[in-house]
Amino acid sequence: MTATEPTRSAPQTPPALDAERAERFAEHLMELTTGGMLSHLIGIGHRTGLFDALAAGPADSPTLARRANLHERYVREWLGAMATGGIVSYDPGEGSFTLPAEHAVCLRGSTAANLAPFTLAVAHLGEHLDELEEAFRHGGGVPYERFRPRFTEIMDGMSRGVFDDQLISGIVPAVPGLAERLSAGARVADIGCGTGHSVTLLAAEYPASTFTGYDFASDALDRGRAEVAERGLANASFEALDIVELPTDPPFDVVFAFDTIHDQAEPARVLRRVHDALVPGGHFVMLDTRAATELADNLDNPFAPLLYSVSTLHCMTVSLARSGAGLGTVWGEQLARRMLAEAGFTDVAVSEVPDDPLDSVYSCRRPEPVTDRTTR
Ligand SMILES: C[S@@+](CC[C@H](N)C(=O)[O-])C[C@H]1O[C@@H](n2cnc3c(N)ncnc32)[C@H](O)[C@@H]1O
Repeated sequence: MTATEPTRSAPQTPPALDAERAERFAEHLMELTTGGMLSHLIGIGHRTGLFDALAAGPADSPTLARRANLHERYVREWLGAMATGGIVSYDPGEGSFTLPAEHAVCLRGSTAANLAPFTLAVAHLGEHLDELEEAFRHGGGVPYERFRPRFTEIMDGMSRGVFDDQLISGIVPAVPGLAERLSAGARVADIGCGTGHSVTLLAAEYPASTFTGYDFASDALDRGRAEVAERGLANASFEALDIVELPTDPPFDVVFAFDTIHDQAEPARVLRRVHDALVPGGHFVMLDTRAATELADNLDNPFAPLLYSVSTLHCMTVSLARSGAGLGTVWGEQLARRMLAEAGFTDVAVSEVPDDPLDSVYSCRRPEPVTDRTTR
């Protein structure tokens, strides 16, 4: 070697592989893959009524297929996945399958305890991986329209039970003075209302108040209108609107935003607009994800992998598709408080939603103007 040749460093010995650690990680990956596959089959069980059919009592596959009016061969394979996946129990002697009562409460019914609707989101959000890959490579995002109309139904399935269980008895009482104000008669907006089940429930509970649900998804609003008409509620209506244009005159006494601020292309502008659209002393009630802003503070949050994944697959990308801020689902309480303060909400209280570990209620008031009482 001459003095002018570049020196080569000695080859590095790769660190010894911890074979047990690699094995554990491989098992972890296989568990994740298995969970993903089982999610699809739980979704099929939910869609076809198989869990309801199984709840009627232990059954073998022909009996269950008859009960659910489905093809036996599919039902038999599905039961294999459910039994080996720990969803149903199997008695090989009898050849019968049972849905334990404790599992049934998590897979059936119209309450928030039924988690089966969430499994449909796994398949749905995975439908756009090609477009998402493009966005990873070139920027931009997958626009909201690409997720509709399926998103409308899936979102409704995920939030309807939470509203039924929590809105009137948990969320409204978490905000001091709100129930009294709604009972007395208030002008109320629900921004990013989706199918507007929240609007229907509030309008039925507080007949002296008037409610308008705003969303830019007309398919979702049509469902809200149909539900309100079915319930015969004259104090609720819906309007297609980008909520950055929320009307400010006449002002609202109360604005609700359920799970929508982190999706926004212009969240700071929307928050400021909400502030400006409220009467002084008016309430802004924001339900949003319960998480911390810094990744390091979310490492022990068991829901964080779900939240970051949903963010990447949906909430962040729909914002980036509009050249937006891309806050993402995990914008977290610290940033939320900062942005609310910047919008003019100086007094913000954050509380938990009973039985809903994923969300927090941010209770905010538009400050009253300070009156100068000094006499000269
Ligand atoms: C995650 S979904 C929540 C829907 C509903 N609040 C619920 O909890 O079921 C967010 C909703 O906000 C709507 N949305 C997002 N950005 C919007 C905007 N700038 N203007 C109007 N609607 C918007 C979406 O169409 C969607 O229906």
